[in-house]
Amino acid sequence: MKDFIIHDNWKVIEDQYHPEWNEISESLMSLGNGRMGGRANFEEKFSGKTLQGNYVAGVYYPDKTRVGWWKNGYPDYFAKVLNGANWIGIDITVGEEELDLAECEVLDFHRELDMKEGHLVRRFTAKLPSGKIVEVKSQRFMSIVDSETGAIRYSVKAVNFQDKVTIKPYVDFDVMNKDTNYDEKFWNEVEKEVSNGEGFITAETRKTLFHVTTGMKYQIFIDGEKQSFKADLEERVKYISNITSFDIKEGQTITIEKIGVNLSSEYAEKSDLVDQAKVFLNKAFEKGFDQMLDEHKKAWEVKWETSDIIIEGDAAAQQGIRFNIFQLNQTYTGEDPRLNIGPKGFTGEKYGGSTYWDTEAYCLPFYLATAPEEISKNLLLYRYKHLDRAIENAKKLGFKNGAALYPMVTMNGEECHNEWEITFEEIHRNGAIAFAIYEYIRYTNDFEYLAPYGFEVLLGISRFWTQRVNWSNYQNKYVMLGVTGPNEYENNVDNNYHTNRLAQWTLQYTREAVAYLKENHAAEYASLKEKWNFNEEEEVSKWTHIIDNMYFPYDETRQIFLQQDNFLNKEIIPTAEMGAENRPINQKWSWDRILRSCYIKQADTLQSLYLFEDDFDVETIKRHFDFYEPITVHESSLSPCIHNILASKIGNQEKAYEMYLRTARLDLDDYNNDTEDGLHITSMGGTWMGFVMGFGGFRARNNRLILNPFLPKEWKGYSFKVNFRGAHLKVQTTHDHTIIENISDVACDLTVFDKEYTLAANDTIKL
Ligand code: BGC
Repeated sequence: MKDFIIHDNWKVIEDQYHPEWNEISESLMSLGNGRMGGRANFEEKFSGKTLQGNYVAGVYYPDKTRVGWWKNGYPDYFAKVLNGANWIGIDITVGEEELDLAECEVLDFHRELDMKEGHLVRRFTAKLPSGKIVEVKSQRFMSIVDSETGAIRYSVKAVNFQDKVTIKPYVDFDVMNKDTNYDEKFWNEVEKEVSNGEGFITAETRKTLFHVTTGMKYQIFIDGEKQSFKADLEERVKYISNITSFDIKEGQTITIEKIGVNLSSEYAEKSDLVDQAKVFLNKAFEKGFDQMLDEHKKAWEVKWETSDIIIEGDAAAQQGIRFNIFQLNQTYTGEDPRLNIGPKGFTGEKYGGSTYWDTEAYCLPFYLATAPEEISKNLLLYRYKHLDRAIENAKKLGFKNGAALYPMVTMNGEECHNEWEITFEEIHRNGAIAFAIYEYIRYTNDFEYLAPYGFEVLLGISRFWTQRVNWSNYQNKYVMLGVTGPNEYENNVDNNYHTNRLAQWTLQYTREAVAYLKENHAAEYASLKEKWNFNEEEEVSKWTHIIDNMYFPYDETRQIFLQQDNFLNKEIIPTAEMGAENRPINQKWSWDRILRSCYIKQADTLQSLYLFEDDFDVETIKRHFDFYEPITVHESSLSPCIHNILASKIGNQEKAYEMYLRTARLDLDDYNNDTEDGLHITSMGGTWMGFVMGFGGFRARNNRLILNPFLPKEWKGYSFKVNFRGAHLKVQTTHDHTIIENISDVACDLTVFDKEYTLAANDTIKL
């Protein structure tokens, strides 16, 4: 854990120069707008520790798979989010000395991310080797209004000298991914141009042939007065810059306002890309930095209006939740169903930047409750559009008859993950995708989604489960062999409870969907049957046989479902008895030792208890929680949030609070010692779930909202807002009351502390 980020309600602040943790701060203060984003790299040259990262949504490279021992069925490539052009770069030279903090004496340093307004500020005073002192201020944002553009205001004050200051704004496409498998660069230059005050480069990704045009346009001021200049133009392969020198007197400040543009061929014809990029850039440039920032701040105000959570009396917790909400809103805005939410978003390369089960399991609830319905629907449509590829993927593994296995990791629907114990075995992801359809419909009441989209996905997944289970004469039940549950710290296990339960549940739900469609959409159902060659009688009766005869490992003595058949053969030693020097075990222990241990990486059986909580009484949930929580190491960011929700449910408020802080401040405090790689964006949806479902007791059930709020003793009060079927509610809790306000024109049915209400439009309940 680290503790260098200053606690503040709205800002993430680093108030000292920590070059050793620079990569952590670069991750934490990343900026994005759904279409592009980047790490909080310095604008000027920096030869210290840094991970350069600028990313453009939807643009990826299929890097040829590299594995030690090839297994049939492995995909040929791992899709990677690409480190794109560095458009933020502004090199500064004072006299003949280049400004590089790694070579200077840093007299003061401050970097902060303003989450309320969505911008990054950095200021420092540095003494160059010659003794010249500069004061630098920079401010940067990626516009959420003009989402192709971003803007920087960067100024240098000559504190104790008079000299020539050279400013070199540039665009550099000659960049690499740190995670490249074969040390290759992924971009080829297509064209470039540079002129006085502006420049553009278009590059093409190798193999996938995406085009991206990145450009810049800037102006310069001295002490606020706009300068005319004639820059030297520099160009080389995949690089353009302008170089201009100004004589600066002691005490004077030179400022550059640089606007950048990124436009990919996903959003414009290749032949038109440069012209289009110029239109966007010129429009932004005409508005100028201040107007752009003003509009951007207003747009953030609107986002916060619907999604903010306020915690009174605990700045660390407040900062944590806002940080999670801010990063989610920066990463995915939901307008484009081709896009999804990578576990690192626009903050790093790890996990390929692609789509995982994380989206359905951890992010969907956040968007359902805080954003327009369309956005969640787009997340579902993303999978619908990939159904053919999921079928193709299952076929490659030997499944037939339209069975669909959605990929563990994907950019375009194809599987691109290649560790057999995950790629072939971590199939619970298929269940998460089916469950998301149910969750979306349960929340929105949009049953219309089933006929054109949802059913086809459910059918493909059900066909997969039907073929993936086998009848065991030994158990006299259906079993599922050779799987990996969410807990990746044991692989190739038999009868993972969570996977078996999801399989059984999917078949049940698909059977219900068939009944619903037959009754309500007979004509569409008939054509779906034909399209998918669906032998209803035969297939549904097979499903029923599996549903009724699914095997689940159970321990009669403890009265708990077991994570897998062999779980109790393990030596069960609570983590509390393991010294701190062993943690995190994935960095301290051999993989062999981990696999044989009882330690659980992330909620697994408890993930099922969370999903299917209505099937269990509180005592049963408590028994499971008390068995699994003490042996869970939470080394996946996706874990503490589920424990937060379940601990709240069973009334273990202290544990709920501990788990909440762990999920909310996971990156801010670098709990798992990996924030430098990028943020855990998808687990941030989990943080929101942990808060609202855990402390708020928030659920949508039977066409009503359920609320059972409680306040952790450490806080004075909190409030959160949720949307539900056109209504917009604000829930406020303090130690003496709960107030629920309907701040919309639509009435809402509620159950609060087990009592039913209908909250009229613009009405309030005080309890
Ligand atoms: C987790 C997976 C998750 C992936 C991406 C892994 O560490 O175990 O459940 O899908 O990270 O977030």
